[in-house]
Amino acid sequence: MAKLLQINSSLFGEHGQSTQLSQKFVERFLTANPDTQHQVRDLANQQIPHLDAEIVMGFGIPEDQKNHRQAEMTALSDQLIEEVKTADILVIGLPMYNFSLPSTLKSWFDFIARAGITFKYTEQGPVGLVEGKKAYIMAARGGQYQGTDLDTQTALVRQFLGFIGIRDVEFVYAEGLNMGDDIKGQSIHDAEATMDYLVVA
Ligand SMILES: Cc1cc2nc3c(=O)[nH]c(=O)nc-3n(C[C@H](O)[C@H](O)[C@H](O)COP(=O)(O)O)c2cc1C
Repeated sequence: MAKLLQINSSLFGEHGQSTQLSQKFVERFLTANPDTQHQVRDLANQQIPHLDAEIVMGFGIPEDQKNHRQAEMTALSDQLIEEVKTADILVIGLPMYNFSLPSTLKSWFDFIARAGITFKYTEQGPVGLVEGKKAYIMAARGGQYQGTDLDTQTALVRQFLGFIGIRDVEFVYAEGLNMGDDIKGQSIHDAEATMDYLVVA
């Protein structure tokens, strides 16, 4: 049975536009692929701490040398990585906040990037160790940036996922959500049409 991991990062939980988009995509996907196990990680409700020196040093030392917090944080990182490694499909709700990622999603990135586990360094450069996954990103923005130099978010997400080995990545954009009802309505309509296309593609 295939496994779909849905990662939501809107501050507004289930009311977030990106969460609603990711939910709409997941519903379509599960209808088309009913034999799929579905797991949700909501980063607004289950916040991951900011990485700090104690945590990152704890990742790299043997279990019996970790202090209590390091053991707890390494266990959380291990769990988040296990969720990704056992998934076949990732669906990420991605709002734009202050031209960047939600800090909760950045923390998730920080907790799943582990040398020797999700990537390794080689003489040819870093190699991702998370293979055979497909990722769908549901990007919600108040303004319009797609295809411009201001859209640094797309490149960052693509680069991070590629770094750990996830290269099959599709973006669905809903832009201009704060630019009036007409633009918002059309944008969500277009995003849903893209979802319909991707689910059967
Ligand atoms: C704190 C905050 C910062 C935002 N910064 C931006 C921004 O830099 N660019 C933009 O186009 N929209 C920005 N917006 C608008 C959001 O991208 C838009 O409301 C989107 O729907 C957010 O997704 P969400 O509803 O899933 O949280 C911001 C919204 C919030 C709450």
